Amino acid sequence: MKHAKTIAELQASLVPLRGGATVGLVPTMGAFHEGHLSLFRAAREECDAVVASLFVNPAQFDKGTDLAAYPRDEARDTRLAAAAGVDILFAPTAEELYPPGFQTWVEVEELGWTLEGRFRPGHFRGVATICLKLFNIVQPDRAYFGQKDAQQAAIVRRLVRDLNIPVEIRVLPTVRDADGLALSSRNVRLSAEQRRQAQALPLALATRDPNKARELLEGLEVDYLEVADFEPRVLAGAIRLGDIRLIDNVLLEDAVPGFNLAPPTEKGVT
Ligand code: PAF
Repeated sequence: MKHAKTIAELQASLVPLRGGATVGLVPTMGAFHEGHLSLFRAAREECDAVVASLFVNPAQFDKGTDLAAYPRDEARDTRLAAAAGVDILFAPTAEELYPPGFQTWVEVEELGWTLEGRFRPGHFRGVATICLKLFNIVQPDRAYFGQKDAQQAAIVRRLVRDLNIPVEIRVLPTVRDADGLALSSRNVRLSAEQRRQAQALPLALATRDPNKARELLEGLEVDYLEVADFEPRVLAGAIRLGDIRLIDNVLLEDAVPGFNLAPPTEKGVT
């Protein structure tokens, strides 16, 4: 696996891999867990070359404390990415992606203002901007995201359609621990008691009924619990346990062919 710190290094490493080959991009913020690994494996299966980006994007954190608390372990992530068959790990500095004078942002408007957007102002502007930058830098044929961040996936698909970006967005199912909790880099910060309380969220969502779900979440700090039409429709929720926010969702209808959870298109399938 090649390790690129700069855009120039990344692009130089991609030259010999391209030439008609399909390139898959898995954008991440590191602290890899089985959810990330499932994206790497899918990209490995469906593309000739796999690029993973590892960048804790400051622009998508509205609170400095959340950014500082985000778990980081680049040495471990490097080992896991290599073992999962990633060809190039792109781990730039913040200055590389946001050099002095940076002032261009992309915003997916209404979709980005609901649910998570109400509680994390500016978050999706940061996500949409970094995804567009990564798409331009890597120029992948496919990019991989997790269904756990259903609103993020919907926003990225909208961005790609609205700005005619030539990339296929692949969204893969949420990976859960044995106790039902959706894997998240934030889970490591939960105490044993918080972890027990957190299990109410997947249990509530599994009812697929907002009223029943709200009952099951009584006593917890719930930011929202709503049905959202993210194509496919989901029941999505966010809870707070101390200073940790957890989000999760379940599908309420089958995935839309060509978008979520669908087999990849013929192009470049090995
Ligand atoms: O889901 C994430 O880890 C991030 O939001 C993403 C897509 C890598 C953009 O920074």
